[in-house]
Amino acid sequence: MLISVIGAGYVGLVTAACLAHLENDVRVVDIDAARVERLRAGDVPIREPGLDALIHEGLATGRLTFHAEPTATHGSSLVIVAVGTLDRAGEWTVDLVERAASGIAHDALAPRHLVIRSTLMPGTAVRLAALVRDIDARMRVCFNPEFTREANAVKDFLEPDRVVVGAGPDADSLVAELHRLYAPLGKPIMDTDLTSAETIKLASNVFLAAKISFANELARLCAATGADVHAVVDGMGLDARIGRAFLSPGPGFGGSCFPSQVRALPDLALRYGVVTPIIAAVAPSNHEQAIWIVDGLEQASGRSVAGTRVGLLGLTFKAGTDDLRESPALRLAEVLAGRGAQVVAFDPVATQAGVDQLARIGIAVEAASTAADAARDADAIVVGTEWPEFATLDWAAIAPTMRGRVIADARRIVDRSAANEAGLTVVTLGIEHAPRRPSSDDAARVAIPVGTPAGV
Ligand code: UGA
Repeated sequence: MLISVIGAGYVGLVTAACLAHLENDVRVVDIDAARVERLRAGDVPIREPGLDALIHEGLATGRLTFHAEPTATHGSSLVIVAVGTLDRAGEWTVDLVERAASGIAHDALAPRHLVIRSTLMPGTAVRLAALVRDIDARMRVCFNPEFTREANAVKDFLEPDRVVVGAGPDADSLVAELHRLYAPLGKPIMDTDLTSAETIKLASNVFLAAKISFANELARLCAATGADVHAVVDGMGLDARIGRAFLSPGPGFGGSCFPSQVRALPDLALRYGVVTPIIAAVAPSNHEQAIWIVDGLEQASGRSVAGTRVGLLGLTFKAGTDDLRESPALRLAEVLAGRGAQVVAFDPVATQAGVDQLARIGIAVEAASTAADAARDADAIVVGTEWPEFATLDWAAIAPTMRGRVIADARRIVDRSAANEAGLTVVTLGIEHAPRRPSSDDAARVAIPVGTPAGV
């Protein structure tokens, strides 16, 4: 099938590259001519495992082409709109989607089959369908949400749990086309109306965000009661009704999707006069988590972080991506700096970008060139992103260069026994693992006469 994709961002590029891999001819259209040139030369502007290979494959077979002119859509069976939906402040906007959709409707040679893949607030697609049909009554619209995670997007696209197709009025032939497009994946395709499809997308994300927040609140509770939150979520996750996925506590969720969506959904509900206390609680609960992590660090250190030097390991919102949007690691920097700490940050792929981003909101953070550099002279370490290299840090070499003894590990990635052996205390989400005290305790234990009750 010959299809066009509008937008060469994360969603557009992954969609286009995967559909070309499934032996469709795909034309990607983006107004950014420089980006188009880069892509034509095989220079992929985003970091996404497996994407480079698929784009190079598409360029080599000629199935994937990149264009700056909107007329490139002419002659394709359908056009997929995958443009951005966040404004500069990270809040929702439908402006770009609307502009792209009406541009296509006004261009009589462009396909009359329009598929929206950009995430929309429920109710938007119905409005957009009416808008394009007012321009040209032949327009048919479907909403086909994506469920791909950054750093896993190619795999999520090619091996989805399900494909959802929301159909606008009289869109049967477009729905049939989409079924043909996705049939090679061999996965269930769910047909529904436009607003239900929009809601499935948003509700899935907000549910996952709520699940993470539930685990984060459990971490706080477990730290207080003495339970091990990791045992708790593992035990809960074994119940097939609950499942273990997205139940790992951490510093809070971030990224370009969950945070903006957990803010937007309660607002939408309120506009309809609907009260949604559970959904409305997710954003504030997430906001609390970084505060709790820093509280735990201060408790274990026996002092406030004010005036101390804190090495922050990781800045991106999760490992495997250079994306800093709404990163909980940046939020940790914000909380630490807000309490008067001098933060020194290192990230394997985004140190300078993260430091620059923090500077833009008035937070001065020093950039380190390695994790060991960030730790030098530090009174404490905070781990904000689960980069695999933080699991194998040489604590025996790092500890002597540090001033303090505490690591607050918000990602449960630090090798605790290695850090403990180096004399460091690791606070993993509120659970303190102090190094085993040597000599005097051992001597006392040896001195206890046989038969004396323990603890006497
Ligand atoms: C999310 C969804 O997972 C995708 O299904 C969806 O398509 C995408 O948003 C979107 O709407 O475009 P993404 O934002 O790339 O994907 O990242 P996730 O892997 O979902 O992680 C989000 C945040 O939650 C990260 O900060 C991550 O560290 C955190 N997280 C995730 C946890 O703290 N605990 C967990 O158990 C899982």
